[in-house]
Amino acid sequence: MLGLTERLDAYRDKGLQRQRQVREDAQSLELHCDGKARLNFCSNDYLGLANHPQVLAAFKQGIDRYGLGSGASNLVTGYTKAHAELEQQFAEFLGYERCLLFSNGYLANLSIITALFDEKSAIFADKLNHASLIDAVKLSQARSHRYAHLNSEHLHQLLLLSPSAQKLIVSDGVFSMEGSLANLPELQSLALQHQASLIIDDAHGIGVVGKNGRGLIEHYGIRPDILVCPLGKALGGYGAIVAAHAETIEALIQFSRPYIYTTALPPALAFAMQTSLSIMQKESWRREKLHDNIHYFKQHAEKLGLAFLASDTAIHSFIIGESGLATSISQALSEKGFALSAIRYPTVPLHTARLRLTLSSTHEFTHIDALLTALAESI
Ligand SMILES: Cc1ncc(COP(=O)(O)O)c(C=O)c1O
Repeated sequence: MLGLTERLDAYRDKGLQRQRQVREDAQSLELHCDGKARLNFCSNDYLGLANHPQVLAAFKQGIDRYGLGSGASNLVTGYTKAHAELEQQFAEFLGYERCLLFSNGYLANLSIITALFDEKSAIFADKLNHASLIDAVKLSQARSHRYAHLNSEHLHQLLLLSPSAQKLIVSDGVFSMEGSLANLPELQSLALQHQASLIIDDAHGIGVVGKNGRGLIEHYGIRPDILVCPLGKALGGYGAIVAAHAETIEALIQFSRPYIYTTALPPALAFAMQTSLSIMQKESWRREKLHDNIHYFKQHAEKLGLAFLASDTAIHSFIIGESGLATSISQALSEKGFALSAIRYPTVPLHTARLRLTLSSTHEFTHIDALLTALAESI
C-alpha cells in the first residue's frame, strides 16, 4: 500500500513501534511470556477476578446453558436472559433506572456519543480523555472543544463561548494514563449551569474507587446523566455497561449503530459477569487489600524520591519524557523480572512518555518493595 513502508519505518525510527507479547497462561501475579516469568505490574485485573474460580465456574455453566456465541445481534435473537439479568443487576448496583450491555467500552463510547449527539452539538472533553471518547467525538461530527486536563476554569470559559443549544461534557472518571480523578462535583455544577449533559467513563474507577466499588459516583455521591462501566478491568471480564435514564437507554437501543449492527456479547460471558459483579461486592477485602497496596506503594516511592504523578488509584505513572528512554528503562526492568509498560505517543502527548504501572489486590508488599528498589536503580 502506498507510503506504508515509509510510515512504518518512521514510526520505528522514533521509537514508537509496539510489539505484542505472547502470554502463555491466565492473567495473574506472574506474567509468563517467552518462557520467562515476570512480576505483573501491567494488568487491569485490579481485583484478581479474571481468574477467580467462581467466575470461571459461572462461565463454564453459562457455556453449558447458552453455547459459545450469541448467534445474532441484540435486536434479532442474540439478546438472552443472561444479558437482561446482568443489565438489571447493574442498574440496581449503580442506582440508575436502566442499563445497557455493550460488547466493550470502546464501542459503548462510540455508541452513546454518535447516537445522541450530532453536528449541531458542542462537546467539551478533557484533553487527556481515553482514545475511545476522542474518536467518538470525531465520529459524531459535533463541534469539539478540549479543555486542559482537570481544568474546570478552562472548561467554564469554553462553555461560556459556545452558542450551541445541545452541549455535552465528557470525561474519564479515573484517567487511564495518569490515575487522576475527574472532579465530578465541578463538572456536574458546570453541566447544570450551562444546561449540558454529562457523561463519565469510569473504566478504571468501577470496582476500585468507593467503599462498595461503585467508582466515582460513590466517591462523590453524584450521578452523571450517563455512566460507562467497561467490564474488562476490575471486573476481570469483557463487555461494558452503560447506565442512564430509561429514555436514554431506549434511545440507544433504537439509534445506536454500534449497538444494533453487531453480534451480541456471548451470553456465557454475560452470565459470568453477574458472578463477577457479586464477588466484587461480597469480597470487599480485595478492594481493601488493593488500597493498602496503593498506600504502601505511595509511601515507599516517596521515601525513595521517586516522583510519580499524584494518584490514589491503581494506576501510577512516572514521566520519563522521550519514548526511546522509556522503552529502554522498561526493557531493563523486564530483564530484572518486572513487567510494566512504557507508554508512548500517540497514547500520551509527545514528550510525555512514561512508565505506567498498575497495582492489584494480588500484590504483596514484598513485590512492591522489590519493584521500587529495581525502579530506583534503573531511572
Ligand atoms: C477510560 C477507558 N475507556 C474505555 C476503554 C475501552 O474499554 P474496552 O477495553 O472494554 O474496549 C478503556 C480501556 O481500554 C479505558 O481505559
